[in-house]
Amino acid sequence: MTRTDDKTGPNHVAVIMDGNGRWAQQRGRPRLFGHHAGARRVREIVRACPDEGVKYLTIFAFSTENWKRTQTEVSGLMALFRRYIMREAKALFDEGVRVRFIGDRIKLDDKLVRLMDNLEMFTADNDKVHLTIALNYGGRDEVTRAAQRLAFEVEQGRLSYKDVDAETLSKFLDTRFLPDPDLVIRTSGEARISNFLLWQSAYAEYEFIDTLWPDFTKDVFAQVLSGYGKRERRFGAVLA
Ligand code: FPP
Repeated sequence: MTRTDDKTGPNHVAVIMDGNGRWAQQRGRPRLFGHHAGARRVREIVRACPDEGVKYLTIFAFSTENWKRTQTEVSGLMALFRRYIMREAKALFDEGVRVRFIGDRIKLDDKLVRLMDNLEMFTADNDKVHLTIALNYGGRDEVTRAAQRLAFEVEQGRLSYKDVDAETLSKFLDTRFLPDPDLVIRTSGEARISNFLLWQSAYAEYEFIDTLWPDFTKDVFAQVLSGYGKRERRFGAVLA
């Protein structure tokens, strides 16, 4: 199932990858087993993007709230992210994927941050698919950090308070290099946004689907995308 002939598909898809824990639980396995299965799906979905006409894929890997999980799960996830970067870097590069990270790096360990920086540099000239990984990311945290930096610019006299509008604020967000998402998908049956891309998704479509993330195959992805564009996006206006 591909959509290369269909130009109305979403350019930027953002995904809340939920349900790894339940998927593992259903199999009587530890939660990290589900996260590992989830990581394999990430690979499959990134590879499916060019065929689906998706240029930007943004995935929610770890939220500012996820630190509240057990130490075992948090450190297991951090190890998984390090391993994912080390193992996938070459394939991502070869497939023309540009990888960037959003979120606050301050709480992440140095080794992981180094790997993230290196992967960003290594893939900086790629343009086939733009993969953005949200790691220690929260929408409110992002807007708060942006507001702080803006306030600092004003304090330093480099910006007047009168210059602060939506466009200026957008330039201070982690996502300044990204177009707004057209479609936000959340797996596993929960109909919540959970602090993901709050500012950027103001006019996005949302798809909440029951499939657990480790079962989210490229065929399920194609199916969800085929529903997009059937609804009219009006951006608040009334269309004739
Ligand atoms: C939510 O499922 C998932 C996460 C908090 C982690 C997402 C991480 C991955 C998919 C791993 C791989 C990612 C990369 C970038 C390599 P949950 O644990 O909340 O599931 P539950 O709601 O069933 O408990």
